Amino acid sequence: MDSILVRGNGPLSGEIPIAGAKNACLTLMPATLLTDEPLTLSNAPRLSDIQTMTQLLASLGAEVAALQDGLVLAMSSHRIDNHTADYDIVRKMRASILVLGPMLARDGHAVVSLPGGCAIGARPVDLHLRALEAMGADLDLRDGYVHARAPGGRLKGAVVDFPFVSVGATENALMAATLAKGTTVLKNAAREPEIVDLAQCLRKMGAQIEGEGTAEITVQGVDRLRGATHPVVADRIELGTYMLVPAITGGEVECLGGRIDLVAAFAEKLDEAGISVTETDRGLKVARKSGRIGAVNVVTQPFPGFPTDLQAQMMALLCTADGVSVLEETIFENRFMHAPELMRMGAKIDVHGGHATVSGVEKLKGARVMATDLRASVSLILAALAAEGETLVSRVYHLDRGYERVEEKLRACGAQIERVKGE
Ligand code: UD1
Repeated sequence: MDSILVRGNGPLSGEIPIAGAKNACLTLMPATLLTDEPLTLSNAPRLSDIQTMTQLLASLGAEVAALQDGLVLAMSSHRIDNHTADYDIVRKMRASILVLGPMLARDGHAVVSLPGGCAIGARPVDLHLRALEAMGADLDLRDGYVHARAPGGRLKGAVVDFPFVSVGATENALMAATLAKGTTVLKNAAREPEIVDLAQCLRKMGAQIEGEGTAEITVQGVDRLRGATHPVVADRIELGTYMLVPAITGGEVECLGGRIDLVAAFAEKLDEAGISVTETDRGLKVARKSGRIGAVNVVTQPFPGFPTDLQAQMMALLCTADGVSVLEETIFENRFMHAPELMRMGAKIDVHGGHATVSGVEKLKGARVMATDLRASVSLILAALAAEGETLVSRVYHLDRGYERVEEKLRACGAQIERVKGE
């Protein structure tokens, strides 16, 4: 397994291009199962999670060609040959559950392995299943798989009222509703930019959707969808992560392709901590306003609130703030696993239930640390950039799931960072 070696070397400055959003791409790709015509995505990120989704779609009979060095995904699902998403692929990536709605909507039946738990919590898929059941699906859970069938071969429009906000369940239900008979109303729907991107793509494919980006989405089902070409929205989590590079090290970084509307709540917290974010004609420019950053309190929430996927990285920043910050995680129950690793670097953090109290120290110190999940791994790299001495982050395969060319992007800003190949 590869590791990443970082030598903290002071303020970093430069330009960092922001890639297409992993989480948007992972829901746009299964949309190819909704049509027998080609669906082409541009601005795709080059990540191992995208390769996993490619494998999954191929196992179902779709063709997925990565063109232009992986930036363009040309997909075509002339017909679905196999309606079973196998455990061996699903267990690698939870987003695999997103093939369920499209397969069921197109052909009236699908079998998908249940994803199981993951490092950051239990993460059930009951809301996905309840939404499809409301649309008339018969579901049978056996041998670790969901066996789903739509009576008469077609789902029916329904009112789906989610008891709490789920990004994935909204995506699955939205895709399923496009081909259902009649009208579907999704209440308490997720409002994330990835949902808006999905709805815009589905609309190009001929779907009739209104209200994406609000808590109520209405879908008028159609008989068939057609092919389309769609650019993947910028990755707001990669954007937020790189905005923290000048925040944590000093210096000034321009994130190319960054949009303030994608990270408004996060940028507000940066401002409160003493970091300025300025819109430019190419993206967002970020720098400290003056010396040491201040402590701030953060509560993770569904969009437009502060994203849980930036909580670990924000914690890394607050480890060196002047004062005490409290981070509250409300989305996932076990998402502070980066805290003990940051403490190995000299951070002062007290985790109690869903809260972490961070008492800022002047300087972090390099250490050997271990990545436990995707966002935790990049938080350790951010901390390492600001630390004194050398940090070796092991288990970086987590990082490769969600960040493309990290070392290259950071080296362009002056970072001393290299990958150490493992066996
Ligand atoms: C997506 C993102 C992930 C992000 C998360 C929250 C993708 C591929 N992943 O994950 O990076 O951290 O949104 O912004 O887009 N839940 C249930 N039952 C369900 C579904 C969810 O109890 O059927 C719970 C989850 O365990 C979690 C909460 O709801 O506690 C929110 O999860 P959800 O929004 O569904 O996250 P994902 O779509 O899995």
